Amino acid sequence: MADLEGNIGAKDYGLDRPQKSEAFHVKGANQLDFGMKHRLARFFKSDGRTVMLAFDHGYFQGPTRGLERVDLNIVPLAPYADALMATRGIIRSVVPAGLDNALVLRASGGPSILKELSNEHLAMGIADAVRIDAAAVAVQVFIGGEYETQSIQNLTTLVDAGLQTGIPVVGVTAVGKEMTRDSRYFGLATRIIAELGAQVVKTYYIEERFEEVTAGCPVPIIMAGGKKLPVLDALTMAFRAIDQGASGVDMGRNIFQRQDPTAMIRAVGAVVHGGLSPADAATMYHDLSAGSED
Ligand code: R5P
Repeated sequence: MADLEGNIGAKDYGLDRPQKSEAFHVKGANQLDFGMKHRLARFFKSDGRTVMLAFDHGYFQGPTRGLERVDLNIVPLAPYADALMATRGIIRSVVPAGLDNALVLRASGGPSILKELSNEHLAMGIADAVRIDAAAVAVQVFIGGEYETQSIQNLTTLVDAGLQTGIPVVGVTAVGKEMTRDSRYFGLATRIIAELGAQVVKTYYIEERFEEVTAGCPVPIIMAGGKKLPVLDALTMAFRAIDQGASGVDMGRNIFQRQDPTAMIRAVGAVVHGGLSPADAATMYHDLSAGSED
């Protein structure tokens, strides 16, 4: 307790300056509770954007090219990511607790690549997300998939738990092979996920009318990466997604499967946070990686 003896009386109340009410910088989040906002602000930086590194692929496909050794492949990239998206198993076993990245925990699972992928359930409780100090939890939603309703229920159950604990939910559009990847499908899927309570939606970029998908979604959309593309194509996709209303990217293979993943995540960061053009970002990758062109 402060020593009361010799205490100096309070007097500077700034009477000429009313207390500020800051608008919150994350889309659709202005009316959320403090803890929820505080967690969102861990990965949406002051520009409202985020660079998330996804390496949760093992939860359904086991060892993945570029993720054979997360300690060697991913941990060195952490300083260049705003958030890390992974399973609790990898976080507890490999990710150093001293890192200051926001953690987005994969919270759904069940089937492996050998089975029907939409047959997921929640694979962790919110109490464990609290113990891990997650900034958010993520769940797949299979709109149009065989287990669509079950995956929606996973989402809403997680949203309820997240609201009780102040943990945002990232709803991920999981697209079955039979779905047409167009603005109609992604507009439908992202809007349903947001309407049912997710505070963030992750979805794929599409070449046509992506800006209608982002405009129709009342919460931030984060662009999913997808399969590895040539460097310039991947950076162009990230640039266009941001330009057309996305609030960030969550990329995996397009970063960790590069010849120089560190150079790539730095180039992606320069696009997302610095507005660097795709061509300049590709040059940046080339220079940082001592000439890699992949
Ligand atoms: C999605 O289901 C996975 O959990 C990954 O997080 C996601 O696909 C992002 O990884 P990539 O950029 O490699 O597609």
